[in-house]
Amino acid sequence: MPAVTIKPGIHWIGVNDHTTDLFEGLWPISREGVSYNSYIVKAEKTAIIDLAKSIKVDEYIDRLNEIAKVSDIDYIILNHMEPDHTGILKLIRELASRAEILCSAKAVPMVENFYGITDRVRAVENGEELDLGGKKLKFFMTPFVHWPETMMTYETGSQILFSCDAFGSYGALGGGIFDDKNVDFDFYEKEALRYYANIVASFSTQTLRAIEKLKELPVSVIAPSHGLIWRNNPTRIINLYKQWAEYAKTGGKPAVTVLYGSMYGNTGAMMDAVTQGLTSTGISVDLFDVSRTHGSYILPSLWAKQGVVLGVPTYEGRLFPPAAHFLDLAGRKGMKNKKLAYFGSYGWSGGARRELDKILETLKWELVDSFDFAGGPTMEDFKKGEVFGKNFGNVILDNQ
Ligand SMILES: Cc1cc2nc3c(=O)[nH]c(=O)nc-3n(C[C@H](O)[C@H](O)[C@H](O)COP(=O)(O)O)c2cc1C
Ligand SMILES: [Fe+2]
Ligand SMILES: [Fe+2]
Repeated sequence: MPAVTIKPGIHWIGVNDHTTDLFEGLWPISREGVSYNSYIVKAEKTAIIDLAKSIKVDEYIDRLNEIAKVSDIDYIILNHMEPDHTGILKLIRELASRAEILCSAKAVPMVENFYGITDRVRAVENGEELDLGGKKLKFFMTPFVHWPETMMTYETGSQILFSCDAFGSYGALGGGIFDDKNVDFDFYEKEALRYYANIVASFSTQTLRAIEKLKELPVSVIAPSHGLIWRNNPTRIINLYKQWAEYAKTGGKPAVTVLYGSMYGNTGAMMDAVTQGLTSTGISVDLFDVSRTHGSYILPSLWAKQGVVLGVPTYEGRLFPPAAHFLDLAGRKGMKNKKLAYFGSYGWSGGARRELDKILETLKWELVDSFDFAGGPTMEDFKKGEVFGKNFGNVILDNQ
């Protein structure tokens, strides 16, 4: 794919990744892919903004060379040091031998630690401008979105904000790189929320701070380092990120994520009754089998919905392990202010609930309701489960 012009002299020269299975060695992207958006700004001087992971390097250099000879690059701007944007830094720096690396003060030692580069590395300050002769760039420090050194770069003439990971999403670019009418927005917005819940959610306070800091800046294009470039409706992705960041305080929408797991079908059968009760209230429900669904796909639902129903049996005196693992991940990812209802089957003396109580002390989620039953559910149990679901649905709806 050739370079794509965003505005005269400003081009996308990124890399589409369809072969990495796990983003950050953790989050599945084998079906969705991801893009590492890199940009070139050409005026009297030439700057490249963010690079790519160390894949398809030949392709990257070919694309770059279409716009400017790599040896003529004057500045390499690093908004963020994570190797999905800097993996090819060492090589590009060899080729662009006179280029100066510009980054935040916190990134300077990281450039050395990750790549052994110390010469012609300069820290830029918040609000500092770089005159390229005909085009001007301005830097804004946005720490901890999502690393300590993160910053954003703004092109003042076309009002393009190169926001790096902020406003990004999973999903390789399927040809078109812009938020044009024919784009599959359902896919990108779903993948943007999954990316937010997986990567950014723990830093929601800092994300809101960055959005607040940039609120007076006239922005006509949001050009993140992953996913679509928003030129038709940049406020759409800014507002989505703002809404998602605010879920850290509110706990999310009045809706419910049902997480269940079952070895022999007893808890599974009850799950159907509970969900029946829940949906009878009209509340929106997402359902996940915790044993069979990677946490990456559950986190976005959990992040966006205030209610959680957990239905898993006792296993060796404790919670069914996939549920314990997922709750641990949810805690690590800063999922807060949730209301939970628990149900599950046990064989002799139970124990799932006891471990859950301990986990909830750490998570600080509110346990609204709970019931368990021995072995297979009776008709009475099913009726109880349906009422349990209905009551919990109403608690979440009443809490709006
Ligand atoms: C490996 C394993 C460990 C279990 N550990 C316990 C236990 O420590 N305490 C208990 O009361 N039941 C225990 N059980 C029994 C299950 O909780 C019980 O069979 C329950 O009905 C399973 O629900 P399910 O059909 O939804 O998987 C265990 C079952 C298995 C297979
Ligand atoms: Fe990152
Ligand atoms: Fe990234």
